Amino acid sequence: GAIIAIAAERAQPQRAAPVALDQCRRCPLWQQATQAVPGVGPAQAAIMLVGEQPGDQEDLAGVPFIGPAGALLDRALAEAEVARLSVYLTNAVKHFKWEPRGKRRLHKTPAQREVAACHAWLEQELARVQPRVIVALGGTALKSLLQDGAATVTDKLGVPFQHEGRWIIPVYHPSYALRAMDAASRADAYAVIVDGLRQARALAG
Ligand code: URA
Repeated sequence: GAIIAIAAERAQPQRAAPVALDQCRRCPLWQQATQAVPGVGPAQAAIMLVGEQPGDQEDLAGVPFIGPAGALLDRALAEAEVARLSVYLTNAVKHFKWEPRGKRRLHKTPAQREVAACHAWLEQELARVQPRVIVALGGTALKSLLQDGAATVTDKLGVPFQHEGRWIIPVYHPSYALRAMDAASRADAYAVIVDGLRQARALAG
């Protein structure tokens, strides 16, 4: 265990890599995941982005937001003039939840009990990183941050509000901006994400 942990840390020095996270058994999602995916970013970052859960590629690599949703997020960050390396990136749920669909692993939305079980890990990251501003990417992130299973981003979409001494900005999830039904909805969702990131930059100071 210790040798593997040291090797992993050397291979990816930018990772927060809390060793115990990969041993988490608070909910059953670990059973079908390759590994837990911890947040990445500066030890102290003014802005934290919280997604839903790792996707297929993130599960395999152990790094958040490197798949299609991550590519869209990169574009939005660049447009908002926020450096990806300056923000702390993490997810509300640290293990990939999926169901088989042919040869593919199809994303499944985590259940509220799984979001609640994983909240302790997000709380630990918040305590350590102490961000001034949190961008909630989608409903699952907001539910975890507010510890409210009924929270949705549509209520206060793109509108910053204060919670426990921090700014929270709810926006759409990048996957929604990729998969919304029509082109206009996708463009609108993307614009909301970019605008949320711009506001985060302004509030972070
Ligand atoms: N979607 C997320 O919410 N998080 C990731 O890390 C990747 C895709």
